[in-house]
Order: sequence, then structure tokens, then C-alpha cells
Amino acid sequence: MTAKIIDGKVVAAEIRSEISMRITELKKYGVTPGLAVILVGEDPASQLYVSFKEKACEELGMYSRKMVLPDHIAQDELIQLIENLNHDDQIHGILVQLPLPDHIDNNQVIESISPDKDVDGFHPIDLGRMVTRHDAFLSCTPYGVLKLLKHTGIELEGKHAVIVGRSNIVGKPMGQILLNEDCTVTFVHSKTKNLKEITQLADILIVAIGSPKFIDASYVKPGAVVIDVGINKILGKTVGDVDFDQVKEVASYITPVPGGVGPMTITMLMRNTVKAAEALNLKKQIQ
Ligand code: GUN
Repeated sequence: MTAKIIDGKVVAAEIRSEISMRITELKKYGVTPGLAVILVGEDPASQLYVSFKEKACEELGMYSRKMVLPDHIAQDELIQLIENLNHDDQIHGILVQLPLPDHIDNNQVIESISPDKDVDGFHPIDLGRMVTRHDAFLSCTPYGVLKLLKHTGIELEGKHAVIVGRSNIVGKPMGQILLNEDCTVTFVHSKTKNLKEITQLADILIVAIGSPKFIDASYVKPGAVVIDVGINKILGKTVGDVDFDQVKEVASYITPVPGGVGPMTITMLMRNTVKAAEALNLKKQIQ
């Protein structure tokens, strides 16, 4: 059996056309959704991601404000800047590109973002809302993965989802999102014993560990759906955490790298920013 390829570019384009209609609607009220992206330091990968976010805003007719700060910036100064953005009417979403330099406490910075503008879905209030199934901003990458899974049309309810990786950005919210979809969820990570025996039980296998081609065919149950969140550079080539050529022979569906999860992340960021603009606009109308 050869797996069906889940094309992230196709799914992202569908969602972008929905976003575009919502932006047109907002503009009738004089609202242009605005995203502020804060980049601290000069990490080349972060610079590249931030430029993609700016480009996506531009393509959709959204307002973007990029703020580049030196890596020696004081934490208080960064937090003050975020406080100003919290009260800035042109800005509906605030994103602080991670990782931050070591002298800055990530948690304090994330907690200074207004939960109403937390389009990354990283604020503890937002994560709590997600866990309790209140309306919440879902973190962009796992939210994108959910959209890809839904696009396949497979039933999620009752499926065993195994999440490889437990980061705050992907693994943990991913598991919670799939629990909310009535999957049975297992997390495995670098300290897990018998990791392979567990991944072999997965109906849905999501891999987010940052280890090139770590998951080969021997980790995968025949017919499983395999989602590869990894982006690794090897000799200038981008590869995922899954050995695509091997695993596509056993899986029922698989995402490629590049062109799978990647295009979804920024699309979901745009969608969250539009959602924030809609909610903030509504709040203003009610006041
Ligand atoms: N660094 C890597 N991924 C992300 C992300 O989704 N959001 C932010 N803010 N930083 C990141």
C-alpha cells in the first residue's frame, strides 16, 4: 500500500480563501486585522519565519508591524513594549518569536500578552480555556495539524493518537486538541521506555521532536495516519522527523516535508489574528 499524501498547500489555500472573506467583512466596519511580530536578536531561522509571517499578512491585506529588538534588550523593556501593544487599537494579535535570549524569562513575557491578543495560544489563560473546552486561540501548528486531519475525512472519535514530543508549542497542545476530539491520546518522549512498542499502536501518529528521519517504517502500524511536524536542515535539504520514503509504504495517509504541516502554521496564525480582530471589534461595538 502507498499512502495518500496530505497536501498542506491545498488545505492552506482553502483556509486562506475563507480568511480573505472574513477580512473583507471586517473592512466594511473599518477594521483591518493587525498583527505585531516581535523578534529579539538575529537568529537566522527566526528571521526567516518572521519574514514569512509578514508576507502572509501582506498577501491577505492585513496590517503587520515587525519589531526587531537587539538581543541584549532588558526584559522590562520588552514587557513594556508588549503592554503598549496590548492597548494599541491597530493591533489585534501579538506574537513574540521564540526562542528568546537566555536572560529573558519566556513565561513572564508570554504572560504579559493580553489573552485577547494571544494569537499564538501560548498564554496560560488561553491554554486553560482550551483544556476546559471554552472558546480559545489554539496554537497554530497543532491547530493546522487538526485541520489537515479533518481534511482527510477520517473519523477522529475513538482513534488512538500517539504524540511523539511534549513541547509547549506543539506536543502538549496537540494532545489536548485531539483529546477534545475524543481521541484516546498517548504522549511519548525522549524518556519513554519502549517508545516503538507504543508508536506501533497508533492509529494517528504525530511526530514533533526535531530529529531527522527518526521515525522509520518499523515504528508505524500499517494503515496509520502519519503527521510529520519536523523541519530539519540536512546539507541544505529540508527533511522531517519521519523517513518519508519508508513510511509512505505502510501508512494510509502521510504529510510530506516540506509542503505538509509547514504551510498550515502561518495560515492558522492569520486565522487566529482575524478571529481576534472580530472579537475585539464586537467588544468595542457592545461597549
Ligand atoms: N518558534 C517556533 N515556532 C513558533 C511559534 O509557533 N510561535 C512563536 N511565537 N515562536 C515560534
